[in-house]
Amino acid sequence: MTPKTGIVVLTGAGVSAESGLGTFRDTDGLWTQVNIEEVATPEAFARDPAKVHAFYNMRRGKARAADPNAAHHALARLQQARPDTVLITQNVDDLHERAGAAPIHMHGALAGALCQACGHRWAAPEVMSPDDACPGCAARATRPDIVWFGEMPYHMERIAEHLQECDLFVAIGTSGAVYPAAGFGAEAAMAGAETLEINLAASDVTDGFDRHIVGPATQTVPDWVDRVLNG
Ligand code: APR
Repeated sequence: MTPKTGIVVLTGAGVSAESGLGTFRDTDGLWTQVNIEEVATPEAFARDPAKVHAFYNMRRGKARAADPNAAHHALARLQQARPDTVLITQNVDDLHERAGAAPIHMHGALAGALCQACGHRWAAPEVMSPDDACPGCAARATRPDIVWFGEMPYHMERIAEHLQECDLFVAIGTSGAVYPAAGFGAEAAMAGAETLEINLAASDVTDGFDRHIVGPATQTVPDWVDRVLNG
């Protein structure tokens, strides 16, 4: 019997920043270094699959070289102590899993590969290339299992149910720049949840939250989890 959702936590790139993985929109963010239109859309992949694979191979290597930080470990501790906690992440790294949490990856995962011909999914190799054959149908139509701009995020029905059910919605380390994730706080609030934003700076949706904790995630998140678990 799955417990009723008590707490929904949504994480963004800010939760992995102190593990050395860049964010997207901060001063030195990823989208200030590369053009989204060239590496993170279905059109970019159709136009130049080798360039897109190279971009995600670089990110996959960086994610594998990074370690979960105190915020990832605190959220895993929360989920283990409170099984009614649902963790949704916009991040495609596997730092939540490596800390012992069980996240819902709404934007896919660097650790996953997908066949565009047959829909088969498997564990991505360190380096992917347009010449890879699908282990299922042998077609040379493999792609990173990442949700690109213009594509529908994963698990949206399940996420909507959790947002309707939860008593508390917490956004951690996200700028609120990208929908539908940026609207989750308002959705949970409309269903009666209390909302909390834990971030290094104000986000695009800060005003919509009931409470705010400001500071680096490796300090603010463990403190918050301790307060939730120790009353
Ligand atoms: N601790 C807490 N928050 C931090 C830290 C930190 N150490 N460092 C940065 N932040 C905050 C920033 O203040 C910012 O609000 O994390 C947020 C990062 O915002 P973005 O770079 O926009 O990342 P994110 O919100 O995850 O982006 C959402 O956009 O590009 C797409 O698919 C991509 O999933 C991503 C989505």
